[in-house]
Amino acid sequence: DMGGHDTYMHKEISEQPDAVDRVLRGRIDDRFNTVHLGGLNLDPREARGIRRVKILGCGTSYHAGLIGAGLIESMARIPADAEPASEFRYRNPVVDPDTLYIAVSQSGETYDVLAAVQELKRKGARVLGVVNVVGSAIAREADGGVYVHAGPEVCVVSTKCFTNTVVAFALLAVHLGRIRDLSVTDGKRIIEGLRKLPAQIQEILEGEEDIKKLAAEYAEAKSMMFIGRVRGYPVALEASLKLKEISYIHAEAYPASELKHGPLALIEPAMPTVAIVPDDDLLEKNRAALEEIKARSGRILAVAHREQEKADHTILVPKNEDELDPILMGIPLQLLAYHTALALGRDIDKPRNLAKSVTVE
Ligand code: F6R
Repeated sequence: DMGGHDTYMHKEISEQPDAVDRVLRGRIDDRFNTVHLGGLNLDPREARGIRRVKILGCGTSYHAGLIGAGLIESMARIPADAEPASEFRYRNPVVDPDTLYIAVSQSGETYDVLAAVQELKRKGARVLGVVNVVGSAIAREADGGVYVHAGPEVCVVSTKCFTNTVVAFALLAVHLGRIRDLSVTDGKRIIEGLRKLPAQIQEILEGEEDIKKLAAEYAEAKSMMFIGRVRGYPVALEASLKLKEISYIHAEAYPASELKHGPLALIEPAMPTVAIVPDDDLLEKNRAALEEIKARSGRILAVAHREQEKADHTILVPKNEDELDPILMGIPLQLLAYHTALALGRDIDKPRNLAKSVTVE
């Protein structure tokens, strides 16, 4: 049942305010300005003993894991990174007892992720799951974890599960952070930011008509560049994946800082750039990248908290705490991919060559 929407993707994009509300519900503790996660199976002493965090996932879940790693590193001050689960599995990784491994999967059935979890467990590691489907294979195999509570996702490409997974990581980061070095003030600041998300997502969704008009313009592109810096880079990766999956337009994502090390050679009017430009400590650096692109006659669509002079168009998003901005900046780009694919007449819910859950190697 599409509930009045033309596609499941549109329905699922629209459900995000409610979905985010669900992942937050019952988990925030205002007395201690922290977060409780019932199924984690990690006591405070164990949480203090973690020396590294390694996050594993595929596709969109890997991108959510990249943002998650940034959240854990900045709030809990634990070195954290994310890696595609299949790559991890085939390189005979060093498995370290002081590392917390986290497997991310919407379906909980992705074979590459499941196999990585099994291999880790065989070697004695502790593995948590960040999973949407309750009781799925990865949820059962993991030592504990966080359910994402996005509700069923039918469209082959992931939208609401991506957003909810990132919010689940923010919750985990506050939880670990408050056991370690995150102050009461910062815990409170992030919690207040999390509570603002559903209304802010709603506000972004209300700008759909404008995004649709932009999509009509960019649908003619043969190829598009997505750039972001630090927290914005995984947003660029995910937006680029979404666009290529459903519109079949070729897209690349690069850290903005890497432009001059090669990809700048591609910039010309026929290769538009989507730039993630949050109002944070990197704003000036990001603006410099826009200037470099403009100087090569590149067209720019910025996603930003205020109008960007160098950009041809700016999609404005509401500001949250710096750490949580990536959650909001991804949302208009789901709509951009959606309306681009729609303008091109693509089969949005079932893109060619793709399956919802990849249970083979
Ligand atoms: C992209 C997409 C895929 C999945 C990937 C992992 O829109 O849907 O990239 O994210 O196949 O799937 P899960 O999260 O079920 O493990």
